[in-house]
Amino acid sequence: MSSESSHVAVLTEEVMTALRPHSSGKYVDCTLGGATHTENLLKLSAPQGRVLSFDVDPVALNRARSRLKVYGKRWLGIEANFRNLLQKAKANGFIPCDGIVFDLGFSSDELADPEKGLSFQQDGPLDMRLGLQANENGLTASSIVNGWSREEIEDALREYGEERYARRIADGLIAARKNARINRTAELADIVSSSVPRNYERGRIHPATRTFQALRIAVNDELQALREALEAARRILAPHGRLAVISFNSLEDRIVKRAFKAADDLEVLTKRPIRPTHEEVRHNPRARSAKLRVAEKR
Ligand SMILES: C[S@@+](CC[C@H](N)C(=O)[O-])C[C@H]1O[C@@H](n2cnc3c(N)ncnc32)[C@H](O)[C@@H]1O
Repeated sequence: MSSESSHVAVLTEEVMTALRPHSSGKYVDCTLGGATHTENLLKLSAPQGRVLSFDVDPVALNRARSRLKVYGKRWLGIEANFRNLLQKAKANGFIPCDGIVFDLGFSSDELADPEKGLSFQQDGPLDMRLGLQANENGLTASSIVNGWSREEIEDALREYGEERYARRIADGLIAARKNARINRTAELADIVSSSVPRNYERGRIHPATRTFQALRIAVNDELQALREALEAARRILAPHGRLAVISFNSLEDRIVKRAFKAADDLEVLTKRPIRPTHEEVRHNPRARSAKLRVAEKR
């Protein structure tokens, strides 16, 4: 494990502008990752502000522990799923809190770790859990592709990957697994590539992109965890406390938009989501699909 994170966080200034950290404030970063938002919160809430950070990935926490040592007791990092936000915030004295940030998905460090099995560009075990707390049932991408029925796989690819060739890919997987278990990301990427038409999406994206996204969302139960966490976030904010959520795909963004709209006690501050500047996207291509939505507790 490298001691430095290679993850470049997105919309960092915009998130701080939204959360307006102040000394004596309490803030929650639900997705620690490379710790940029957490560290910005700590800096801007000096000398007394406190930050509680969640991550399901113990590697991210260990990295952050050495980097954030200088903040002493002002920072607390926990290996926990943000779907348990309410209980964990309560147990650690973070209710009510003044600001909450979610920067959803996975980090570049996780993508680059072949053992996590998130990338079709390098071979690794077909796991895709971001950490052991990512789900409660031990589900992995391997258990899905080797164990689920054709209909279940097809539905997951369509729903979580918005994959139009879901049927063909599910058929390809069922045929392949009759010969041998599918255990590696490279095997999965090959099966998907040979199940779809040659000019898949006119070559704009790798044929396995949507399948990998769908499996990752299913394995980590990402959409349901987000719904539960947004509900908890709304409840634990102090009056005028702010909630900032960065999403990276339309499924997540829709959930955030609807949750904000449905909550009577939230005032939506972003009629349209805040997008990164061209300059930011030029430096950090991962930012291109990022959307930030912000709401304030009434
Ligand atoms: C995009 S990265 C966050 C980057 C971070 N904001 C930074 O400043 O570098 C997302 C992080 O959230 C974590 N994560 C994803 N789903 C989670 C969940 N349900 N609960 C807790 N952490 C989660 C991932 O393991 C990953 O480290």
